Amino acid sequence: MATQKLLLLPGDGIGPETMREVKALIALMNEAGLASFEIEEDFVGGAAYDAHGAAISEDAMAKAEAADAVLFGAVGGPKWDAVPYEQRPEAGLLRLRKDLAVFANLRPAIVYPALADASSLKRDLVEGLDILILRELTGGVYFGEPKEIRDLGNSQKRAVDTQVYDTFEIERIARVAFDLAKTRRNKVTSMEKRNVMKSGVLWHDVVDDVHKREYADVELEHMLADAGGMQLVRAPKQFDVIVTDNLFGDMLSDVAAMLTGSLGMLPSASLGAPDPASGKRRALYEPVHGSAPDIAGTGAANPIAMIASFGMCLRYSFGMGELADTLDAAIAAALDQGLRTPDIWSEGTRKVGTEEMGAAIREAFRAEAA
Ligand code: IPM
Ligand code: MG
Repeated sequence: MATQKLLLLPGDGIGPETMREVKALIALMNEAGLASFEIEEDFVGGAAYDAHGAAISEDAMAKAEAADAVLFGAVGGPKWDAVPYEQRPEAGLLRLRKDLAVFANLRPAIVYPALADASSLKRDLVEGLDILILRELTGGVYFGEPKEIRDLGNSQKRAVDTQVYDTFEIERIARVAFDLAKTRRNKVTSMEKRNVMKSGVLWHDVVDDVHKREYADVELEHMLADAGGMQLVRAPKQFDVIVTDNLFGDMLSDVAAMLTGSLGMLPSASLGAPDPASGKRRALYEPVHGSAPDIAGTGAANPIAMIASFGMCLRYSFGMGELADTLDAAIAAALDQGLRTPDIWSEGTRKVGTEEMGAAIREAFRAEAA
């Protein structure tokens, strides 16, 4: 069995406690002979700032470049509110995304049957929901230059961020969207703001061109991003794959997360282009939720988004689709047993902490896979 190298970057807040549950799962898989994972661990975010004075060290970046996949927890917290902007915890995550060139961020929003009542929407609107937000992750206003606050000298300042997209960036994310749609319900909805933004005009036209040229057999619709946000909470099941830029994708994926009951449920995978020689993609796996400093250390964090992100790693980096399915089923089984972390708790279910939820998922996984 080939050995796979994983770099774990637990980060801050609830990152380390949720990552602990993934570590236990990795140990289980190694012991059961299901995989041969070799893990390394390093700091990112505030933890890296405290250790090295930078949001990620050069050494950790080198480990990330050398790994077969990177698992990321969460970064940030009030403790680092005053650190210089360039070294704020989020800068570590943004550098990882940019330097690893993981431009395609897959954020699936799936409603587990047991949780349909935890959604902020009525059960019939979300029951069976299975949509995928594909967020462009290495371009747009997150990275565009200039990005600065200028002093205008008359006691006025001017803040500038730059929204910028080149044709090739839109083409490659559009191709990922159409390829993913083909494995699902064959529909892509592209969201931008072409009614106000030049980048939206180009986004629309390039997605349209790629569709006509290469994917005419996939259904494509265009939606303005504000209307898309409205449709997501009005009738989310109309969507299959939503493809959108970095900033709209950030916002729309938080909206989609709440449809599933809690931010604590949503995993993500960030993939680069396949290497021409080996076919391997750089990959970074991270839950959509943040570091939740308010509950960090209380043992109450929901580990499901982190565990499901590891499931995406099995699927997309290691071709272990069956084990990924088994892991998803194990998560559903723990929920069916009525176990709930506080974020998804409702009357008649049993409130458990991070460890108990993690252990129940491992038990269900072991029963099926090992
Ligand atoms: C996300 C987060 C990040 C983002 C932050 C932590 C920089 O909100 O992954 O959605 O804005 O991309
Ligand atoms: Mg976000």
